Amino acid sequence: MPLSPSAAPAAQSLPARPHVPLVPVLSGASFRPVRGQRLSSVLDAAHVRLVTSGRIALALALRELGVGAGDSVLLPAYHSLSMVPPVLWLDAAPLFYRVDGGARADLDDIAALCRPGVKALVATHYFGFPQDLAALRALCDAHGIALIEDCAHAFFGEYTGRPLGSHGDYAIASSMKFFPMYEGGALVSARHALDRVVLRSAGKGFEAKVVLNTLEHSFRYGRLPALKALLALPMRAKDQLWRRIKSSRPAAAAAAGGLAPASSDSDFSFDTRWLDKRSSLFARVLLRRVSAGRIVALRRRHYQRLQAAVAGLPGCRPLHAALPDGVCPWLFPLVVDDAEAAFARIRQLGLPVVRFAETLWPGVDAARCPDSAHLSRHVLAFPCHQELSAQELDWMCARLAEVLAP
Ligand SMILES: Cc1ncc(COP(=O)(O)O)c(C=O)c1O
Repeated sequence: MPLSPSAAPAAQSLPARPHVPLVPVLSGASFRPVRGQRLSSVLDAAHVRLVTSGRIALALALRELGVGAGDSVLLPAYHSLSMVPPVLWLDAAPLFYRVDGGARADLDDIAALCRPGVKALVATHYFGFPQDLAALRALCDAHGIALIEDCAHAFFGEYTGRPLGSHGDYAIASSMKFFPMYEGGALVSARHALDRVVLRSAGKGFEAKVVLNTLEHSFRYGRLPALKALLALPMRAKDQLWRRIKSSRPAAAAAAGGLAPASSDSDFSFDTRWLDKRSSLFARVLLRRVSAGRIVALRRRHYQRLQAAVAGLPGCRPLHAALPDGVCPWLFPLVVDDAEAAFARIRQLGLPVVRFAETLWPGVDAARCPDSAHLSRHVLAFPCHQELSAQELDWMCARLAEVLAP
């Protein structure tokens, strides 16, 4: 998953710290139901195709819309680099629209950019918070443009009582950001059948790699200890075999590296080989079996803990003043005045952090959108996912307060 995790080792003098997972890791608790209100998900749409990433879903949505050479697609100036190649793949041109300081789509700028040849608008629900879908829908309808909801950060959520993802012509999601799984994305539509999107299995090697990587990632963070012990011998044998293959048959090892999409490994690239591939059986089973109620309830609770931890600290403010009902956050985004100094300290402490949109597409700068340029430099976003233990969260909150204290 393309993130900018903190990767620096802990400073020598610091006390032992927990190894906190940046993204959800599979644990026994992942399946535990929780009581509470259920929140809709993008999968509640009538038509669903499960693919391996959000960017593949975006490319398929654009292809379904018939986007091609000479067309333009409106993308937010505050974006992930992975959102642009699907547009270029279809020989269309991205047109970057402005967002404001709260990462809300700038409706006036969008209206000014709506000219002949513009086929679609991609609206991103950053960090899980919905855009003004009523206004965007009206704007798109008035200009005959398709609306694609980018729910990469908003797998769960509602807007005016309806699921996120059901307001657009199409919506895309990145399930691996919310579920403890190695790969996963979705293309959905409440309006159009997806009969032309035909997917096939990516093969046994892919299926095996997804299971192994999901489990190994979980073991690395101390989860599923009994299963880890049970699989210790076969895992060791697998590692030895793998080392032997790498040294004796580097070409075979390189081919095995391509068994899963690079989108699963902190990479922004776009690989067309995954356009017709279904998400793995393991990921599809996890989507059904992992407790959705727990994801929503704990993400909201953890977000509020982080928000409380930084409340009143100078030089920073949450991107959103409150967490409204109906929102299931991806991360806790904090706008920090001296973000570079804080980031350096955060890396030193080993706190997990994401700098979403840290690099913008060439040509998208402060002249095109001052607020995007500002957000890209000043937002530090912290995990609030459901698999953080109470101890990990306590540690994160304490260190964060320490970093940001005057
Ligand atoms: C806003 C946004 N849209 C789309 C994507 C693409 O999702 P994926 O990484 O699943 O391809 C990302 C990835 O980070 C994203 O942040």
